[in-house]
Amino acid sequence: YSLKNYNTFGIDVKARFFAEVTGLMQLRKLLDLSVYPNRFVLGGGSNLLLIDDIDALVMHIALKGIHIFEEEEDYVIIKAMAGENWHELVLWCLEKDYGGIENLSLIPGNTGTAPIQNIGAYGVELKDVFVSCEAMDMESLELVELTKKDCQFGYRDSIFKGVAKGKYIITSVKLRLTKKAHIIRTDYGGVQDQLEQMGIKVPGIQEVSRAIIHIRQKKLPDPSLLGNSGSFFKNPVLEKSRLLPLQDKHPEMPVYEVSETLAKLPAGWLIDQCGLKGYRQGDAGVHERQALVLVNYGNASGQDVLQLARTVQDRVEKEFGIRLEPEVNILP
Ligand code: EPU
Repeated sequence: YSLKNYNTFGIDVKARFFAEVTGLMQLRKLLDLSVYPNRFVLGGGSNLLLIDDIDALVMHIALKGIHIFEEEEDYVIIKAMAGENWHELVLWCLEKDYGGIENLSLIPGNTGTAPIQNIGAYGVELKDVFVSCEAMDMESLELVELTKKDCQFGYRDSIFKGVAKGKYIITSVKLRLTKKAHIIRTDYGGVQDQLEQMGIKVPGIQEVSRAIIHIRQKKLPDPSLLGNSGSFFKNPVLEKSRLLPLQDKHPEMPVYEVSETLAKLPAGWLIDQCGLKGYRQGDAGVHERQALVLVNYGNASGQDVLQLARTVQDRVEKEFGIRLEPEVNILP
């Protein structure tokens, strides 16, 4: 069973068995059946590099539904099932004028996988609106509720990448959104400039979303046209003391403050400085407009992309003494 249409990189690997999961009972049954001892959980497939065929039952989580769980005068808690497309959820909220996730517009992938890497963009992270999620414990087959605290969110990180890796299947997510007095965040990544260009002086959440969609479409390749998984690497976080020699050599280097002692560097800038923007190894390439994004020009294998990623890591390390860490999950 080919998984080419189930991963945004468009890598053509095969699954031994495949199931489309549309109900919780079905999910429990599939997990209960001892005939499939090896299981592999697939969400939107947007943060994933598949290397080899998967000798397992691949369960594509396609649980659907969005509803209002709690509503007060000034806020609402919505519950969205894991298989809902993330951007469609954002649009659903904008339509109802619920604020909080407009800065996360146009992020590929599904709602149920958003907590795993605590998706973030333009100064907002999922954790800022996250209340809790429900997940099926793959061993006990019980549904459990994990609060925001339980999830231990960090930059592109959560418990689901750490000690709870492989333990749960997230089935739904609850988010707390504003109904009025929306908090507008435009101070990051050129959003303000874009709004000005659009002639908008007092933006609402819909305008912020439109501006961000515009910025993303300019820089980031559309996975339906050119296979990719967004940022391939994380932006490295360093001790500020390590920055000085780098800043001496590259005074124009952008730096983002993380804390009193830590700073984050844009990996895309580092890769770009190595002259790798637009670089290709066969059908695997570094995107021409955003060097942090690796792309599949058609028939790249997972190995081809991985080789390219190593080349990028080696070059950046040689030039800057920093080893970039992948952001995407490389599997199996
Ligand atoms: N830059 C370059 N050359 C490049 C790419 C970037 O010089 O080829 C410079 C830019 O000019 C800018 C800086 O690097 O000064 C940062 O670039 P950008 O604003 O495009 O953001 P990023 O740090 O590369 C992060 C997230 C993105 C998110 C944007 C906007 C990570 C790993 N990536 O990218 O998330 O959309 O900020 O908030 O944190 C993703 O995770 O898949 C993703 C796309």
